[in-house]
Amino acid sequence: MMKPKVFVTRHLPEAAMQKLQSACEVEIWDEEFPPPYDLIVEKVADKAGLLCLLTDQIDVNLMAAAPNLKVISQVAVGFDNIDVVAATKRGIAVGNTPGVLTDATADFAFTLLMAAARRVGEAIDYVRDGKWETWGLTLLLGQEIHAATLGIVGLGRIGRAMAKRARGFNMKVIYHSRSRKPELEEMLGVEYRELDDLLREADYISLHLNLSDETRGLFDARAFSLMKPNAILINTARGPIVDSEALYLALKTGQIAYAALDVTDPEPLPVNDKLLTLPNLIVVPHIASATVASRTQMSQMAVRNLIAGVHGEKLPFPVNAV
Ligand code: GLV
Repeated sequence: MMKPKVFVTRHLPEAAMQKLQSACEVEIWDEEFPPPYDLIVEKVADKAGLLCLLTDQIDVNLMAAAPNLKVISQVAVGFDNIDVVAATKRGIAVGNTPGVLTDATADFAFTLLMAAARRVGEAIDYVRDGKWETWGLTLLLGQEIHAATLGIVGLGRIGRAMAKRARGFNMKVIYHSRSRKPELEEMLGVEYRELDDLLREADYISLHLNLSDETRGLFDARAFSLMKPNAILINTARGPIVDSEALYLALKTGQIAYAALDVTDPEPLPVNDKLLTLPNLIVVPHIASATVASRTQMSQMAVRNLIAGVHGEKLPFPVNAV
């Protein structure tokens, strides 16, 4: 029997690759950089499945060029790079990889929170730049973490995992989400706030939202104007939720104290971007889920989705209902 044809836009860990190759005829883009959009369009023309990353733009034109496509399997939990509405209309199943990266991502959001609060990046540079000549009473003073207030925006899986970590550090945790979640409030020890109230009250604000038309640019000049001067913003969600220009001004003028970004807009952030001239900013290259265990499991889930999809079966981890 002929194996279904699939296109894979990046090399996967070995075990996932082997499983995929045993079930499908695999064509792979094996480079470090993403395949050009036009190349994906060309490659999917005769494929039943597409396995992609969040750096691949999967839009309606691409789907129109792929008459046999049954499944789009993304190796990530976020899927804002895929036009899911268009896929659903065409009966194409879309899958993602939720759950296995929740704790790794929350661990890393908390890492960024602590690194920004205690100015770890600046401190490392200070030593490496040969500036460490004596112990200083006022050297590199940061902010307290314990007993401070964390505002979590978006109380999904990762937001909830962040709340647990913060409670372990004896922080007060407030949250905002589209719908209030009373059943979680007692369990997690968190209190609901309207977004503006959260912005006014929180010492730390951590974003755990999907990127959508509703959340794009949510953190704009107005949002920063409500925040405390000691506020620290942590973004491990998606770059465009924060207006980069407004963030630059807020950090530059001291409207807020610090930001720590795992995701940026644009992404990657060019090395000459003016954000990178700011001392009160940490930027890392979208690595919140980057543990061996998480990435291995994400790849395996994506392969399972792909194999189910090309066989016309229900995806184990579906995004849409087709
Ligand atoms: C990473 O950003 C993901 O969505 O999994």
